[in-house]
Amino acid sequence: MSVLGISGSMRKDGNTSLLVKAVLERCERAGIKTEFISLAGKEIKPCLGCEKCKEKDWCVVKNDDWGEIMEMVLDCEVLVIGSPTYYFDVCGHLKNFIDRSYSLYHRRKLAGRKAVAVAVCANKGGARTIETLEGFLNSHEFSYLGWVRGKGYLEGEVTQDARGLKRAQEIGDKIVQLLSPHD
Ligand SMILES: Cc1cc2nc3c(=O)[nH]c(=O)nc-3n(C[C@H](O)[C@H](O)[C@H](O)COP(=O)(O)O)c2cc1C
Repeated sequence: MSVLGISGSMRKDGNTSLLVKAVLERCERAGIKTEFISLAGKEIKPCLGCEKCKEKDWCVVKNDDWGEIMEMVLDCEVLVIGSPTYYFDVCGHLKNFIDRSYSLYHRRKLAGRKAVAVAVCANKGGARTIETLEGFLNSHEFSYLGWVRGKGYLEGEVTQDARGLKRAQEIGDKIVQLLSPHD
């Protein structure tokens, strides 16, 4: 039983990481195992559109960090996936990661896991970022638990966004409820 948080931002300790971690923190407090990974400093090559993954059931692009991180997604029970908003959408680095998950789409290898979408923007466009993440999660047939949107521009500013943090805690509590054993 584990919750995996991913931040797609190139700022390792930026706003997206902070908001994703705020969700994870709630789970940790309840004794649930969590893992966090930042895509900052990771090499994620783009999808080649070669369609070879239809036969291989895995992305044929080699020698980067995509495979190791995707193995973690396959291992998790709940995915908390977050992106900074770049031009009203997810950032390119995370989009590369998402595009390569096409290799798992053909046989719905990610289906059934639970997921939360997280987006941070300075001002506008966070809703569309969430929509893109929802498109990814719904295509793969994750069970969608909801979204968290935060506001912040400079690194760390999202910690001033009381509404965003509250939402992160609420979603964290929802995960705890779902993963806790019931009578
Ligand atoms: C290339 C780029 C594009 C951006 N586009 C938007 C945007 O469309 N709307 C917005 O509100 N903020 C935009 N921002 C601001 C970031 O979303 C904001 O700084 C966010 O907190 C970054 O999150 P991070 O610290 O996790 O990287 C943009 C920033 C960059 C670098």
